[in-house]
Amino acid sequence: MDPLKLKFKEKATAVAANVKKLNKDFGEIIVDDVRINQVIGGMRDIKSMLWETSELDAIEGIRFRGYNIPDLHRLLPKAKGGSEPLPEGLFWLMLTGEIPSQDEVNWLCDEWERRSELPKQVIKTIESLSLDTHPMTQFSIGILSMQSDSVFANKYREGLNKADYWDVTYEDAMNVCARIPKLAAYIYRRTYHNGNHIAPDNTLDWAGNFAHQLGYEGEDFKELMRLYLTIHADHEGGNASAHATHLVGSTLSDAYLSLSGGMNALAGPLHGLANQEVVGWITEMTDTLGTTTPSKDQIANYVKETLAAGKVVPGYGHAVLRRPDPRFIAQKEFAEKNIKNAPMVQIVWDVFEVVPPILESLGKVKNPWPNVDAHSGALLIHYGLTEYNFYTVLFGVSRTLGVLASLCWSRALGLPLERPKSVSSAWLMNFIEEKNKQ
Ligand SMILES: CC(C)(COP(=O)(O)OP(=O)(O)OC[C@H]1O[C@@H](n2cnc3c(N)ncnc32)[C@H](O)[C@@H]1OP(=O)(O)O)[C@@H](O)C(=O)NCCC(=O)NCCS
Repeated sequence: MDPLKLKFKEKATAVAANVKKLNKDFGEIIVDDVRINQVIGGMRDIKSMLWETSELDAIEGIRFRGYNIPDLHRLLPKAKGGSEPLPEGLFWLMLTGEIPSQDEVNWLCDEWERRSELPKQVIKTIESLSLDTHPMTQFSIGILSMQSDSVFANKYREGLNKADYWDVTYEDAMNVCARIPKLAAYIYRRTYHNGNHIAPDNTLDWAGNFAHQLGYEGEDFKELMRLYLTIHADHEGGNASAHATHLVGSTLSDAYLSLSGGMNALAGPLHGLANQEVVGWITEMTDTLGTTTPSKDQIANYVKETLAAGKVVPGYGHAVLRRPDPRFIAQKEFAEKNIKNAPMVQIVWDVFEVVPPILESLGKVKNPWPNVDAHSGALLIHYGLTEYNFYTVLFGVSRTLGVLASLCWSRALGLPLERPKSVSSAWLMNFIEEKNKQ
């Protein structure tokens, strides 16, 4: 058994025993109650699912197995000469709860390289799609096209003991994480660079090699990818891409089917597509104003026009967070260190000053602060990755790490089919009527 699998098995076996006991001894204890405005309003805040890999606090932001983003920056192994965390390290942390050593991360990097070959049918499937197919659609189809390789699905067909579900899910998760940068790079190069593909450089780490296969050789861009692919990986279980992956996975659909479901959720403008929307919105603003250096007053007027047209300001607001997103701050710090004079970065920082008071003045927006998507595009534009329809795929490559680490945990804990209760509006009205009679 490989070292990560062995460690995961040890940890997960202990947690599974605790969870079983918790359920048996305290299963009837109430952890939350549900209001009608939560039933109608997208189930906000209802504590109703188990998710081991990360926890989200409205004020502090994300913690991966107890470590926040500055901790990850400090503690996770880095590439030689680099200062950004390696996403391989985060995957190890999410599965084991332990910060890996440099050797452990090197092992994982080599292991993913060993598993990274794309099955032939993937290329055939992607090539059958028209070039104007949105990159996220190509990405989701590409993931599905690998499903016939699923170790879980193939073993399940042969007859698999429940106790071994986690083992084959781990194999699928490792294969998908290994292949996903190659799939994303393939889509990028076919869509925007005439199918001029770049062979991997296996001396590089997972994120560095991804940058190379996209066609970006600068060390700064490789560092950006290491940071980007780390901070987008997981955001507790209730967000749409994580929850969709979990829901699909709870039917014992394998990692490919589950991840594709999650990526379809990520492709929505209220979720991961917001990173593309932010750059689209800024570009439209600078085009409309006829300047690439708009004043704060001009930005404020444009924000008000956006709101008056019944649109959201992309990159602002969050269903859980109530402060500027630490993932936004991490990207801002990267920009301050490396590219503080980039024009788009300057606009993003001015927007950061202008938007919150305007959203606050509406009196209904619960969080007027920027989220992760408000900053990422400006960094990518600076390094020449200007094709913003592709940005959500980058998010998806990272999110794959979190949701598949979680799928391994769900299998190890033997979590059941997810099946919440729905009610009709007539049921709710009747419920109130009955309550009023009491
Ligand atoms: C992320 C988001 C979907 C969260 O939604 P939510 O939990 O329902 O947010 P709220 O409870 O604060 O919404 C209350 C109201 O404020 C509005 N609102 C929230 N964020 C807004 C924004 N950025 N611009 C304009 N209006 C916003 C909502 O549309 C809603 O209006 P309504 O009552 O007229 O329908 C929302 O903030 C949004 O649409 N943001 C822009 C898209 C984005 O950046 N998505 C990426 C998220 S990581």
